[in-house]
Amino acid sequence: MRVRVLGTAAGGGLPQWNCACDGCRQARAAGVDRTQDCLAVSGDGRAWYLVNASPDLRTQLLRTPELAPGPGRRDTPLRGVLFTSAELDHTFGLLSLREAGQLTVHATAPVRHALRGAFPLEPVLARYTRTRWETVVCGQAIPLDGGLSVTAIRLSEKSPRYAEPHAGDDWVIGYRIDDVHSGSTLLYAPCLAAWTDTLSTAVRDADAVILDGTFYGCDEMATRTGLDRPAAGMGHLPIRDSLPHLAAHAGPRYLYTHLNNTNPLTHPDAPQHAALAEAGAAVATDGQLLSL
Ligand code: MLT
Ligand code: MN
Ligand code: ZN
Repeated sequence: MRVRVLGTAAGGGLPQWNCACDGCRQARAAGVDRTQDCLAVSGDGRAWYLVNASPDLRTQLLRTPELAPGPGRRDTPLRGVLFTSAELDHTFGLLSLREAGQLTVHATAPVRHALRGAFPLEPVLARYTRTRWETVVCGQAIPLDGGLSVTAIRLSEKSPRYAEPHAGDDWVIGYRIDDVHSGSTLLYAPCLAAWTDTLSTAVRDADAVILDGTFYGCDEMATRTGLDRPAAGMGHLPIRDSLPHLAAHAGPRYLYTHLNNTNPLTHPDAPQHAALAEAGAAVATDGQLLSL
């Protein structure tokens, strides 16, 4: 399995266009450009799938040689898109794929509902290209081209701010991605509200795990930007609280993604990197390639 980490920042990216917090200032000064959370994965190196479609998708596609079109004028290695949530930073980029000849999109029922109503991507895109929407059911394997099998795991019922909440729904999921030929497994969970038993089980089988790294600590938004938005209320388990679980489930390679501009780990010299290394983890970088 080949995995390209296309983007590693939370909504807004790093730096964020209207933010002069310490993290964004430092990023601006150092020329850092972390694009918003997005992943590409392939079993055979020919058929590729996106997990999420970030608002930075066009830039991400142009930076990724495996996703270049050809040899025919409109051939593309892109076979489909799988959503982990209905959040704008995960879905907005689908509009940038409207030139596609056809598009297959996988999403859970509440996410599909939101994308038909409150944020009507599905009807809008249907006017531009042939789209096929598939409903993702947690626990049910989805066979993909190129020898991949993908199974969703339920992570939380946190709905986007623009949508009507429905308690108990699969708003936020992670994907276990299996290469049926090599037997390798990737677990992708860019938004994680809590560490659950389901997650522990999924992590045990994985060769690599990419996890929610939005915040390092729970009160970061207040201390770094002055906004009173604690991590728990935003549905993001801080790294400080997921790290002990990594130590208890040693084995896979762990990477953190979806970093918010407030996260001290966005700075390469932050002392917190040592705590990650101790747990066998690191921060993912844009463009990073994993071969599993
Ligand atoms: C999240 O990850 O919590 C959302 O993407 C926040 C947002 O709306 O930017
Ligand atoms: Mn987000
Ligand atoms: Zn900032």
